[in-house]
Order: sequence, then C-alpha cells, then structure tokens
Amino acid sequence: TPLPPFDLVIFGGSGDLALRKLLPALFHRYHDGQIVDGTRIVGVARDVRSDEDYRAQVRTALAPIAATEGGGEAALAGFLKLLHYQRLDLGNDAGWAEFSESMRRERRVRVFYLAVAPQLFAQAAQQLDAWKLIDADTRVVVEKPIGTDGTSADAINDALGRVFAERQIFRIDHYLGKETVQNLTALRFGNALFEPLWRAEHIDHVQITVAETIGVEGRAPYYDRAGALRDMVQNHLLQLLCLVAMEPPTSLDADAIRDEKLKVLRALRPIDAGNAAQLVVRGQYRNGAADGRAVPGYAEELGRASNTETFVALKTEVRSWRWAGVPFYLRTGKRLPARVSEIVVTFREVPHSIFEGVSALAPNRLVLRLQPDESVTLWLMNKVPGPGGLRLRHVPMDLSFAETFGGRHSDAYERLLMDVVRGNPMLFMRRDEVEAAWKWIDPIRAAWEAAGDAPKPYTAGTWGPSAAVALIERDGRTWQEDA
Ligand code: BG6
Repeated sequence: TPLPPFDLVIFGGSGDLALRKLLPALFHRYHDGQIVDGTRIVGVARDVRSDEDYRAQVRTALAPIAATEGGGEAALAGFLKLLHYQRLDLGNDAGWAEFSESMRRERRVRVFYLAVAPQLFAQAAQQLDAWKLIDADTRVVVEKPIGTDGTSADAINDALGRVFAERQIFRIDHYLGKETVQNLTALRFGNALFEPLWRAEHIDHVQITVAETIGVEGRAPYYDRAGALRDMVQNHLLQLLCLVAMEPPTSLDADAIRDEKLKVLRALRPIDAGNAAQLVVRGQYRNGAADGRAVPGYAEELGRASNTETFVALKTEVRSWRWAGVPFYLRTGKRLPARVSEIVVTFREVPHSIFEGVSALAPNRLVLRLQPDESVTLWLMNKVPGPGGLRLRHVPMDLSFAETFGGRHSDAYERLLMDVVRGNPMLFMRRDEVEAAWKWIDPIRAAWEAAGDAPKPYTAGTWGPSAAVALIERDGRTWQEDA
C-alpha cells in the first residue's frame, strides 16, 4: 500500500551506504508504488552542489539497477525528481535556517537517517533539536555499531535520548530485515512442529556462520577501528542468536519480541580473560586468493601492520532452562572461501539405532540460509530407493524461496526503511539490547588486550585460522559449510 508523502533526509547522502543500499532500496519502493510522488528525499553532505549534480550522481549509481527491471528507466526518471541536495555541516550553522524552514513548511512524517560516523550522532541530534526539526512525527535512524564499546554507546544513546523519545529512535541492524531472518520467527512460531523440539533435550548444538569473500574494500579507516567482533558479532550475529534462542513472545508487538531477545543477551555465558583463550579465536587474513584471483593481505591493504581481527569464531551458551548445555558456535570473517550465511540447528542423534551395521545415521539438521540464495533445508534420513535392502541416506528437504515464491528478491533495507516511515520498531534494536550486547562483547576485547597477542593469521580464501577448526572439533563436532 502506498505511504502518504514523507520527507527523508540522509546525512551522508552521497556516501557509500546511501548510494549502495539506501537509495536503491528507496528506488525499488518507488518503482513498486509504495513511495509516491510528492515524497522528498534529501541528500545532505558538506560539499557544494546542486540538486541536478546530486541527481546525476544518483542516476549513475542506480542506472544499472533500473536497467534490469521492466519500466525501470521511466521509474528512475520519476524517482530522481523526488531527490534534493542540501549542503550542511554538522559542526556549524551555515544553511540550517533555510533547511529547517523548508522542512517545516509542511507537517508530515520526517525521517533523519544518520549515515555518518557514530562520533557525529550527538552533534546531529543537537542541531536537529536546535533548529526545531523534531516533532512527534519525526524519527531518526542510526546505523550499527552504536559506538565502539558500552561507554561510548551510552553517550550516543544519551545524546539521542535527550531530544528523541525511544520510540522515535530506529537503531538499524539490517540483518533483521533479511527475509530468512524474519522467516526464522515465522517457522518457529507459525508451525507446531519445531517448538516442542526447540530445546536442549533435542538440540545438540547451533552454528551461526556469516562468511564473506570480500576484504575490507575501501572501508579500512572505519574497519581497522572496529574489527569483526564489533562490526559483525556485536550486532548481526548476536541478533541471529537471539532469534534462534528467544522464548516465544506473547505477540508480534515490538516490545514483546525485544523483551525476549534481551533476556537471551543477558543469559549469554560471559567470556573474559579467564576463558577467552578457550572460547574465542580471532584471525586476520594474509595474502591468498578470493573469487578466483590473488588478493593482498589485510595489513597490505591497510598499508601497515595492525592487530585488528578480520575473523572471529567463538563458542557460547545461553544459560537458561531451555538451552543449558547446548553450545552456540558463531563465526564470521572476511576473505573466506564463500559468501554464505547460515544458521544450522543440529538435532540430537536417535536414542537407539536399529540400523546398526546397515547404515550410519546422521543427525537431523535444520539449515536456514540467509545468503547467497535464501532457503530452508531440513536434513532427514531416508531410504535409498531400490530392492537392495534398507540402506539409508541423509537427504535434504528443501524450500528455496526463489523457486517457491518467485519474483524479485527485495533487499533488507527496503523493508526496514518503510518500517521507519510507518513507525514500526519491531525489527530495530532497543537501547537496552544494544547495551546488553556491548556488556557481553566488552570483556572479550578486554581479554584480548590483556593477553596482548596478535590475531592468528589465515590465508585469504580459507576458513580462518586452524584454531577455529580446533575450537569446535575439540567438542567432537565440525563446522557445516556444505549444507
Ligand atoms: C555490515 C558490515 O554491517 O554488514 C560489513 O559493516 C559487512 O562489514 C556487511 O560486509 C555484510 O552485510 P550483507 O548484507 O552483505 O551480509
């Protein structure tokens, strides 16, 4: 359904996130008729340029996308008319009076997307308030990671909280907008089949892998200060873990779900200087191969040596009645052999096999694949057809989204941006979730600093340091990467 015209202001309007994710997502929503003419999308940056210059830049970024869709060219022409450019500097007042006046001419939903460094969030909030740009229909969107640790996150959240109510603050974690991630909630609570089994009695362990083949690309200045633990684990991987492990919420109400996720974060087994060496492996890629070509190591890309990790594998546990004793293995890294993100839930073995000496049984697995192709697979033991006796084989029962539902696969940002405009915070992080996540992450960093050792090297194009394999094999289990 079409949304009433709104104003969306993107600070960092010509940055990487805006051009690669936000504007393409908005374009698709326009093309589908959800965003209507009369909506204003304002790109803000510090350099001097005209609306026309900005539109030309966005046209270049979007043309290849528009070209692949029926009616895309005409839609792009219409979409570009919604775009405006505004020169503003968060550090001074130039241009703000005029900007504020043009924004306030009409009363409508107004969204400020802060696609800038988190150090600027506080200043942005102050300016928006000072120029009277915040009313009840105003919302602000901030990207992860919120800060670099619990203390800096508190400062940011305090600054935002001084001028916005919590319900106006949308802390985005785009993994929550991914189809398979939402489908996890649908599968768990829309079927009677899984929930009774969803507990320590029946589940052996859970693996969550987010593997990328890319390196740090042009983002080294940001990435080197973040590292994989802050860039991926603190937010995306922990959010996935929460959705796997949370208790059934009482409704789809945003707070009902977020309350349950929060309990999971608070129940995570702490990792600190006492056990980090056993429970966490961090790595950094050396030169090797990715996507079929030779690639340099992280330090070479950066131009200097660094202790920042580009890979993390860890083992944790949710200390609750439901999950006691069930390991959750998490891993993520850059320059791994494949772009694959999946959640693998491995069930326990049958209590007694009547097939002994005939066929070995493999445990049931439920594999939720987030990317590249979205699918849900349930691995079952089946009889191999034919007269040759009762031989069994582990076979996949597959639900591929592309085959089942067809159509264009929409990006997470499309859903999330429209949720912001509608004012639906369900798929966004509440302040206390961010705090709880940092509270669990900070001691891991502190343990690394205290130990003073460097991340373990791994060759680009491999599954991380061998210690990551040892981490899970010590427990008699293996990483699933072929499911
Ligand atoms: C971002 C991280 O949040 O997620 C990036 O900052 C990472 O480092 C990206 O590459 C991965 O997102 P996706 O949707 O491509 O899996």
